[in-house]
Amino acid sequence: MSSSILDILDGAVRAAFEDLGFPAEFGAVRESDRPDLAPFQCNGSMAAAGLLKKQGEKSNPREIAGRVVEKLQSHNAVAGLEIAGPGFINITPSEDLVADRANQLVSDERAGALKAEPKKIVIDYGGANVAKPMHVGHLRSAVIGEALKRLMRFRGHQVIGDVHLGDWGLQMGHLISELQEEQPDLIYFDKSVTDGFPETSPVTMDDMARLYPAASAKSKADPERLKLSQQATAELQSGRPGYRALLDHFIRISIEYLKNGYGELGVEFDLWKGEASVDPLITGMIEDLQKMGITEESDGALIIPVDESYDAEDRKGIPPVMLRARTGAVLYHTTDLATLIDRKVEINPDLILYVVDQRQALHFDQVFRAAVKAGWYQRDQLEHLGFGTVNGKDGKPFTTRDGGVLRLADLTKMMRDAAAKRLEESGIGQDFAVEERADIANKVGMAALKFADLQNQRTTNYVFDVDRFTAFEGKTGPYLLYAAVRMKSLLRRAAKNGITDGPIKITDKAEAQLLLSLDAFDRAVANAASKRAPHILCEHIYRLAQSFSRFYTECPILADQTPDDIKASRLSFTELALRQLILGLEIIGIDVPEHM
Ligand code: ARG
Repeated sequence: MSSSILDILDGAVRAAFEDLGFPAEFGAVRESDRPDLAPFQCNGSMAAAGLLKKQGEKSNPREIAGRVVEKLQSHNAVAGLEIAGPGFINITPSEDLVADRANQLVSDERAGALKAEPKKIVIDYGGANVAKPMHVGHLRSAVIGEALKRLMRFRGHQVIGDVHLGDWGLQMGHLISELQEEQPDLIYFDKSVTDGFPETSPVTMDDMARLYPAASAKSKADPERLKLSQQATAELQSGRPGYRALLDHFIRISIEYLKNGYGELGVEFDLWKGEASVDPLITGMIEDLQKMGITEESDGALIIPVDESYDAEDRKGIPPVMLRARTGAVLYHTTDLATLIDRKVEINPDLILYVVDQRQALHFDQVFRAAVKAGWYQRDQLEHLGFGTVNGKDGKPFTTRDGGVLRLADLTKMMRDAAAKRLEESGIGQDFAVEERADIANKVGMAALKFADLQNQRTTNYVFDVDRFTAFEGKTGPYLLYAAVRMKSLLRRAAKNGITDGPIKITDKAEAQLLLSLDAFDRAVANAASKRAPHILCEHIYRLAQSFSRFYTECPILADQTPDDIKASRLSFTELALRQLILGLEIIGIDVPEHM
């Protein structure tokens, strides 16, 4: 695959600036702010004039722009150059360049997207907790993490997704102690038994969802009850066999349940590791850190200072990493550090991305500093990619009507139901069989949910609004699905009428505009990947759908009056647009139905 139209123009304009004795970067070309005038522009003349002025020379940006234009006048990549305002250069590519590029894109399976130099990347996302039902708070990490995983894979990287379950803290002690209160005779609580525990779990997911909140509520009200949970946690962490056997059941049952929940969102993990899985590394890790001399004792706890300016008195600066509490328990910092060792040994990644709520930013800053201090990683190998919260219309985190936690399963059902209602109202797919209708409603509902999430800048909060998300008009998932399905049905109709595709010819403004939209795919993919920003790709997909829609309205494709070679060209356009749209949607985790 060769360069995009923008890249070719960029190269030409840079060379012109250089020829005139200016730094090449003044010739940078970008998409125009006024696409009605020309698709591309270069603003370097102003900077060039600024430079001359600094050197005490006569400087006039329009005059410099004039000299650049003169240099480029006969270049075969440009059709039009205009100087506007104080010295902007508006650039229109030549028809030959556009048509050549179009035919390259048509024959490219990846619709123009190049690959990056491959890296090995771990993405830590999902982060659900064992024994707890999935709720709305788990949505964004799953959706954003999955999109980044697919995006990085599409760029050619080797990517390993790890769910990193929360399964090692006080919540496990709550569960164990509450189960003991309920069923004290279970063999797991008999200290004299050290192996041969039953294969089947004594609890179901529903049991756990009941036991955990009960224990947690009791512990809040009663310090003695809390002590039982803490005691159970400590014994679990120091390896009491009955408790370990229980934990294994909890984890297994939870994973079964979570696979379903994530599966409904189309989210799949390569690794189902968690905090508990790095327990065997912790003792050795703490010894190593102590030998390095980077740990300190503080009030009976073991810490790693990660900010020399931290003042324990007024708590200013970055607080230390807590390796071990005074009680002997290990903490969230400890398991994340041990996980970094595990990943180094097992995978040795170039990069680790953590897709976790923005509210955990300090936690990751501390962990990363400690890992760098220990010499395990370079700082630029570790990135926390935070995200904002999903809010209700009142601006507060989204809950159920009575203020309770909204389960993820209820949320996805809400989306499916809303999508089904929309489809019915719009009279779409009403003559399909029941199962197909349900499948379409599911795809529309999930597209609505995911696109509404991913189109936002990752770090901002957004308001959950089923009606807006499921609309077929506007910047929504359903609009994009509708666009893709329309292309599919057009291609089916063409095939039925024996019309085949052929070389692209640009005969209309809407075609040229569609081609320029298509040609921005590689840029969008590369930028979304390097900025870890799926919304950049969402923006591209949306613009592509809009350009196609305009093309579809203004350029009759299968109509009798359209000459055969133009029909063939427009079919190629449609195939290319569909291929690119599907690639883009796949990256953000959206499936396209056959019909709608
Ligand atoms: N289980 C954690 C939580 O619910 C999220 C885990 C994120 N990943 C990590 N490596 N700490 O907050």
